[in-house]
Amino acid sequence: MTPTIDVLLGPDDLTAALQADVRHGLSAPPGRRALPPKWFYDARGSQLFDDITRLPEYYPTRCERAILEARAAEIMTGPAPVTTLIELGSGTSDKTRLLLDAGADGGSLRTFAPFDVSEETLRAAAAILAHRYQDAGVAVHAIVGDFERHLGALSAVGPPGGRLVAFLGGTIGNFDPPGRARFLAALASALAPGDRLLLGTDLVKDRGRLILAYDDPAGVTAEFNRNVLAVINRRLSADFDPEAFRHVACWDERQEWIEMRLAASADQTVTISDLAMKVTFAHGEEIRTEISAKFRRARVAEELQAAGLAMTHWWTDDNGDFGLSLSRRVA
Ligand code: SAH
Ligand code: TRP
Repeated sequence: MTPTIDVLLGPDDLTAALQADVRHGLSAPPGRRALPPKWFYDARGSQLFDDITRLPEYYPTRCERAILEARAAEIMTGPAPVTTLIELGSGTSDKTRLLLDAGADGGSLRTFAPFDVSEETLRAAAAILAHRYQDAGVAVHAIVGDFERHLGALSAVGPPGGRLVAFLGGTIGNFDPPGRARFLAALASALAPGDRLLLGTDLVKDRGRLILAYDDPAGVTAEFNRNVLAVINRRLSADFDPEAFRHVACWDERQEWIEMRLAASADQTVTISDLAMKVTFAHGEEIRTEISAKFRRARVAEELQAAGLAMTHWWTDDNGDFGLSLSRRVA
């Protein structure tokens, strides 16, 4: 069966949103410049992220995979079998195959709905998965959208009560705390009582390992971070020299998040033609490109609770590096 694809965010909307984010983020005074993380993921960015997940220093993917290997059957076919699996920020849905395999074996899974802002990556993944699971009777219904704007669309996917939303990879850590609360509330209101959320959260650990995971010696993460400048160049006719920016990753002990920035390695002026905008950077001036918050179990439970989601299960890998929680929308 070929997958169905709903495009909630077409190329024109995407350009308009990028324009607004870049105008807003780069017209801020030096020291407060920032770009939102969703713009990392063009085709090259998605490929670089895939490379990151295979780095020896980037432990989250391997840890989360180990938990899924141990728990997939319990998650998918437990007392209330999952009929619809929705995945937010699905990317290549690589680890998700563990859930899909368990759902296919259990026989009750009917629909897989991957949801991502990166259309090209999503289309490729949807085609492969539709083919792989067709004999098991699982239909693939992909959604190109922004999970900060289009969660309402989920209410129309699958019968209420049998849905499981997976949000993996620790991507929830890329919101700031108010954005995270808004996201969880919007998600909970798109769900029906009995629907569940499977949430991957990277956990607080020693600074050294965290920094290495976000600043690997091979420089793949640096390349990924700088890719956002190439995206702006191509989409908005800008002339950033990505090589003139240095990748910076710091651990903010108080906020318990990793902060990623790009620091100008010399004085420079960048022209963004489509916005008729010039941005001047002094040597060392930074753009914040992403935070990646790290969690503790109690905080995850509290934040879910505040959104109307009750945590029913909490698993970690053997080393306690990464947490996976299952929660249920309460009536
Ligand atoms: N789930 C995968 C990929 C994580 S990378 C894993 O666990 O490895 C984050 C993914 O979220 C990317 O595929 C990116 O395109 C997507 N993404 C980031 N911001 C988004 C947004 N605002 N709306 C929808 N998808 C988003
Ligand atoms: N969601 C991933 C994370 O927080 C994304 C990521 C990994 C990332 N490495 C990065 C984002 C480096 C920007 C720069 O772990």
